[in-house]
Amino acid sequence: MPTVRPGQPAQVTVELENRPYSVFVGEGLLPRCGELVRGVAAIRSRKAAVVTDSNVAPLYAETVLASLREAGVEATLVTVPAGEASKSMEETTRVCREMLRAGLDRKSFAVALGGGVVGDLAGFAAAIFQRGIPCVQIPTTVVSQVDSSVGGKTGVNTPEGKNLLGAFHQPVLVLADTGTLATLPDREWNEGFAEIIKHAAIRDASLLDLAEDPAASRERLAELVTRNVAIKAAVVEEDERETSGVRALLNFGHTIGHGIEAAGGYGRFLHGEAISLGLVAAVRLSCELAGLAQEEGDRLVAALKAYGLPTRLPEDVPVDAILETMRRDKKFEEGQIRFVLLERLGSAFVSEAVTPERLEAAARELRG
Ligand SMILES: NC(=O)c1ccc[n+]([C@@H]2O[C@H](COP(=O)([O-])OP(=O)(O)OC[C@H]3O[C@@H](n4cnc5c(N)ncnc54)[C@H](O)[C@@H]3O)[C@@H](O)[C@H]2O)c1
Ligand SMILES: [Zn+2]
Repeated sequence: MPTVRPGQPAQVTVELENRPYSVFVGEGLLPRCGELVRGVAAIRSRKAAVVTDSNVAPLYAETVLASLREAGVEATLVTVPAGEASKSMEETTRVCREMLRAGLDRKSFAVALGGGVVGDLAGFAAAIFQRGIPCVQIPTTVVSQVDSSVGGKTGVNTPEGKNLLGAFHQPVLVLADTGTLATLPDREWNEGFAEIIKHAAIRDASLLDLAEDPAASRERLAELVTRNVAIKAAVVEEDERETSGVRALLNFGHTIGHGIEAAGGYGRFLHGEAISLGLVAAVRLSCELAGLAQEEGDRLVAALKAYGLPTRLPEDVPVDAILETMRRDKKFEEGQIRFVLLERLGSAFVSEAVTPERLEAAARELRG
């Protein structure tokens, strides 16, 4: 269980063999990042690149750079345009080349300061830069604090699809400063709750007591983020490279959700919004095929609604396009659909009982 002391950041350790790392969660971590970075054994150089995006840079880059400077770290700032389009090979190359021109070498380290886009991009750049340098993740969105900054999945998109190029590259340290979430726009705040509600659904029913109440979530933000990090960490510890099936449980709601995200044309829905719809469909399939109690299913859907997340598919998103993208999803291994279902709140499993016909019906039922 995470260590929590009043007034202190909480600390969760991701216990990976040979290279455990700490995730600190709390307010006011940004100005302490230099000191915390200096405490990491894997960091052996005082030269770094802070990678961020054009929205986050004016808000938080100076605090991070100043703290690093104070700790004796010479850091160069690399800013990419905000938005999913920056998760590309072109931008990865540009970031790496800026790092080379700034004189970083194989002993240097990278700091990813921003949401999941920056985390995935900078993490990937760190994975390939001079065959791999340490990466510190400083996530600044709900999604990145509760999900993407922990676990080591990094990568970029191609026109053929999302996250198709990438590497496993675990961070050496994660600093989730919950104070940074104060500047997050409402829509981005809300979408993060799709992943939080997903975590509660697959792994910790008691988390839903807190997560389903938007006012409590704001008041007890550090606790909320810490509990989510602990869930993600436990899953990653059990199945670091998604081979045993445990990590696949994190895909709950994502099969149909990804189809909706692509069918809407990226930009129509935020990831969490598409996942909200995917969760609604997966909850219905769980009631139908896995014995999930109707009240528990209803409670999950109500929790999504409490954050203004969509639970009905808008008319202008064609179901056929959703089905088409789902057929191309990498999880459709050799025609066999491995679909995550819930048997009850807090307990998920991978099922092979979901036929393409049932999946299609579930997508169509999202119309309302
Ligand atoms: N690696 C993983 O395991 C994993 C898991 C989930 C999602 N992801 C990836 O994460 C990405 C989505 O991440 P995201 O939702 O954080 O999106 P994002 O990084 O695009 O951030 C959302 C928006 O908020 C802005 N922003 C970030 N922090 C801010 C702050 N504190 N104040 C004000 N504005 C801020 C950003 O500039 C951006 O415009 C996707 O590319 C997805 O594939 C990866
Ligand atoms: Zn997701």
